[in-house]
Amino acid sequence: MKLVIATRNARKLEEIHAIFNFQGLEVCSAFDFPHIPDVVEDGDTLEANAIKKAVEICNATGLPTLADDSGLEVEALNGEPGVYSARWSGEGCTYADNNAKLLRELAGKTNRRAQFRTVIALALPGERPLTVEGAVKGTIIDELRGEQGFGYDPLFMPDGYNQTFAELPAEVKNKISHRARALNAASNVWTQLRCGT
Ligand code: IMP
Repeated sequence: MKLVIATRNARKLEEIHAIFNFQGLEVCSAFDFPHIPDVVEDGDTLEANAIKKAVEICNATGLPTLADDSGLEVEALNGEPGVYSARWSGEGCTYADNNAKLLRELAGKTNRRAQFRTVIALALPGERPLTVEGAVKGTIIDELRGEQGFGYDPLFMPDGYNQTFAELPAEVKNKISHRARALNAASNVWTQLRCGT
């Protein structure tokens, strides 16, 4: 049995591989199918993008495919940047640009609640795609703290911790993160699907 992971991001692949290490399952990735063009992530929601990626790659390879999409949802900004997290401050922007924008947008606001959310879609040939999600709630602090991780990590302090995602050791972040939670949910669904056949 093969499962394609719809990503060309080696770090993501490693994280997914660690959770999807079932006996008899060969995990491959978009790297193994260089002829397949990148899927354009133009959906309005994390769900739409995850489903689009999973379905297009499943159709192109004829193999079960898993795809994810993540974002930061800030309460006081009505869920922004959400699905636009990567390019929130414009095409070609950096993580630093996005973090600076987040601090600007929240200046003077008392509600600093936010969550990271990941949606994972699983597409099996000839079947309707399934989705699961994982989230981690926390607060946006008012200055950058920590050097690890990526994206909005230096501004996000998960509930129950007094360090940001960029200060916490990677193994702690990788246990409680939105992606880890979604991946665990996806791995449960995968187990049920495979047992049901
Ligand atoms: P992706 O769907 O995993 O590529 O995530 C899209 C964007 O959301 C990233 O470019 C980051 O800006 C943000 N993001 C997703 N996951 C994380 C995380 O774990 N830490 C910080 N930022 C994240």
